[in-house]
Amino acid sequence: MAAAGGVRVNAEIKDLTRIERIGAHSHIRGLGLDDALEARKVSQGMVGQTAARKAAGVILQMIKDGAIAGRAVLLAGQPGTGKTAIAMGMAKALGEETPFAMMAASEIFSLEMSKTEALTQAFRKAIGVRIKEETEIIEGEVVEIEIDRPESGNVAKTGKLTMKTTEMETLYDLGQKMIESLQKERVQAGDVVAIDKASGKVTKLGRSFARSRDYDAMGPSTRFVQCPEGELQKRKEVVHVVTLHEIDVINSRTQGFLALFAGDTGEIRSEVREQIDTKVAEWREEGKAEIVPGVLFIDEVHMLDIECFSFLNRALENDMAPVLVVATNRGITKIRGTEYRSPHGIPIDLLDRLLIITTQPYEEDEIRLILDIRCEEEDVEMTDEAKELLTKIGHETSLRYAIQLITSASIVCQKRKGNEVDIEDISRVYQMFCDVKRSTQYLLEYQEQYMFSELPEDDREEMKES
Ligand SMILES: Nc1ncnc2c1ncn2[C@@H]1O[C@H](COP(=O)(O)OP(=O)(O)O)[C@@H](O)[C@H]1O
Ligand SMILES: [Mg+2]
Repeated sequence: MAAAGGVRVNAEIKDLTRIERIGAHSHIRGLGLDDALEARKVSQGMVGQTAARKAAGVILQMIKDGAIAGRAVLLAGQPGTGKTAIAMGMAKALGEETPFAMMAASEIFSLEMSKTEALTQAFRKAIGVRIKEETEIIEGEVVEIEIDRPESGNVAKTGKLTMKTTEMETLYDLGQKMIESLQKERVQAGDVVAIDKASGKVTKLGRSFARSRDYDAMGPSTRFVQCPEGELQKRKEVVHVVTLHEIDVINSRTQGFLALFAGDTGEIRSEVREQIDTKVAEWREEGKAEIVPGVLFIDEVHMLDIECFSFLNRALENDMAPVLVVATNRGITKIRGTEYRSPHGIPIDLLDRLLIITTQPYEEDEIRLILDIRCEEEDVEMTDEAKELLTKIGHETSLRYAIQLITSASIVCQKRKGNEVDIEDISRVYQMFCDVKRSTQYLLEYQEQYMFSELPEDDREEMKES
């Protein structure tokens, strides 16, 4: 673990906190724009919705130019019109360095912490700190790895590693942790590797040219590199981006960095945050660190209440604020926690700060293309006729419903030992699972038989319309 002046930072943990459950959007690899920011009809998993994608691209450009920190964007449109997909596309297009945090507004009511703490954490997950550090690395060609096999399984493994440059050769003792890192990277004699002395991280740089005669055994993807020159140990400046939230958690004594793995961080004391903010400000002044404003995406934003909205308003004024992207499918509706109605259920003062991007319902041919992409993504073979039927279903019910039928239809198809999903499979699952319209119809017909079904009169009207 790297230590930078009392406050600890660690780049390794990031990969883990980045894991998100985004199965439904796994096909999205970007916004699919060309250099002029025009949306290609089908690109990077994105189909249609060109005006909204282009607008999102303009926002991205502003983010990259650092011209939009503290601003906010609202994606507004009917369910299943790609609002979340566009937000995911923005995240992908921003690349690894720019932090992107995502939450559903309703989450803040279920976490075991106050609403403002949950929002503070979300904001700090979206603010990166680019830190420059000097580290010592050992870089060279592996001559030999020797791992002792202890007789009993619960004794820690030990071993020896011989590394060389063109000028020198050194023997290192290996502990259990290094052995695991080397094995994880499948390091063998002849590999050129870099080992970070502080963290023990092993990076494989390639195969030594001296070994190029083993080419046949290695396969065509092998990268050959020169055996490094000079000293084995080198000082190297590394730059990495960690989020303020990661720094908070690592430095919060009650939590420790293990909490990041468990995802269960609890509340963070305000003294910890103050200490970190002061330290980060110092680093910025000394030129050791820069702030990287990221993106915070809050989905279903109408689920936030008035207290949360006023928190957002204030948080956006902070000089380190990320770009806030929110999405909603609501029209004029009550602001949660008040008796007032407002467009999208968002108070006017916040609404006033938002750039609004609207999404439109899809045409049949676009639905077809999205279904094609999802079939490919889920490795499902489907006949043209079945796809046509599914497209019709998607058009008449909802895109999301049609996408969900792909998986279930493919299971039904497997059960009958078919290799290609056909019309019969689609119609079976269509009968098996109700879409919202049919389900609502059913509920309205039989509501007396259900508990707690008394809808207020105007809600019932809304449901019939949709
Ligand atoms: N333009 C698009 N291109 C590709 N896939 C899309 C597009 N729009 C929506 N999808 C996919 O359709 C499904 C529903 O879209 P989603 O983004 O969840 O809608 P919303 O958030 O507006 O309710 C998701 O699986 C999404 O990835
Ligand atoms: Mg959504």
